[in-house]
Amino acid sequence: MQVVLISGTSSGIGRETADYLAKRGFRVFAGARQPARAAVLAETGRRLGLPLEVVPLDVDDPESVARAVERVVSRAGRLDAVINNAAVGFFGPVELTTDDQIRRIFETNVLGAWRLTRAALPYLRRTAGTVVQISSVQGRLVAPFAGLYAASKWALEAFSEALRAEVKPFGVRVVVIEPGFVLTPFLRRRQSVQIAPDSPYAAEEAALLPRIERAAEGGAPPSTVAAAVYRALTDPRVPFRMPVGPDARLSPVPAQAVAGRHRLRCDRSAAHRPPQGARTAPRPTSRHHPRRLAAQSAAGPSTRTRWATGHAAQSLSRHHRRWR
Ligand SMILES: NC(=O)c1ccc[n+]([C@@H]2O[C@H](COP(=O)([O-])OP(=O)(O)OC[C@H]3O[C@@H](n4cnc5c(N)ncnc54)[C@H](OP(=O)(O)O)[C@@H]3O)[C@@H](O)[C@H]2O)c1
Repeated sequence: MQVVLISGTSSGIGRETADYLAKRGFRVFAGARQPARAAVLAETGRRLGLPLEVVPLDVDDPESVARAVERVVSRAGRLDAVINNAAVGFFGPVELTTDDQIRRIFETNVLGAWRLTRAALPYLRRTAGTVVQISSVQGRLVAPFAGLYAASKWALEAFSEALRAEVKPFGVRVVVIEPGFVLTPFLRRRQSVQIAPDSPYAAEEAALLPRIERAAEGGAPPSTVAAAVYRALTDPRVPFRMPVGPDARLSPVPAQAVAGRHRLRCDRSAAHRPPQGARTAPRPTSRHHPRRLAAQSAAGPSTRTRWATGHAAQSLSRHHRRWR
């Protein structure tokens, strides 16, 4: 029986994934920083006789991380996968985001995942296991007022990309899951900048928030992310990055739907600049050629143009990341 440790299972995607995997034959250690908040999950596990155990796990605390991993290994004798799911959302303009807020978000979303991964790797090397990172569509694209949250997810993806190459020789896989909006308490529980009514950002916030809330209402159920995690653990052919949900696959569209007039603008010239050190510059396909995209943009902001523009930026940014 494969043994997995998941962080942040007191609600949302983490809870759903713990339940989903336990019902499909995984032995699940469900990390929760306040185990009492995972009581529903523990109760379901007991009632259905599932191989599921809640373990205390606060990813901000190095000792808690070490204890959780030790507990899994001492109880199950092995570890086959770690799922870095715990994270905190954030909403606010870059200018008004404080050092403390940056530290807090990075502490959980980046360091937390890094810590847990580091603690798990000695055991994952023995089992040729898997690291699953729950990132976000914002790990690839950025919307206004999401600078800090997106920066944390880009950082998560950056170290994951290095890790992927580093642990490949040991047979350890790394998969990054990028959901679009998911129906969980995440948005409601996010931290945010308090914007005063006379702030220069007040009008932008007032325009943006209702759009985000409307877009979030159309989010995917958390079971779609749980199913993607299951695939990541059971199918070695899955790609390194797995977008989840229709809005994540057509990622620029929701960013625009959310941001409206603030729609995502990609710097096409930068996106097409050849990566330093590359022997040959990446050649965009003709459909995504900058001149063609520029002409389409000039012709008007059709949905197709917006989608194509974003899509080109996205695929090129992936290309750049590969070459870096
Ligand atoms: N919902 C979305 O639209 C969406 C979209 C894309 C990506 N995601 C990603 O999906 C993941 C799960 O989010 P969710 O939507 O399921 O939201 P959620 O219901 O708010 O779940 C977040 C979980 O993280 C836990 N957590 C926060 N700080 C922690 C810490 N220091 N140590 C351990 N656990 C901690 C929370 O525990 P407490 O109950 O103790 O606070 C909670 O269980 C996150 O990585 C998020 O970035 C979500």
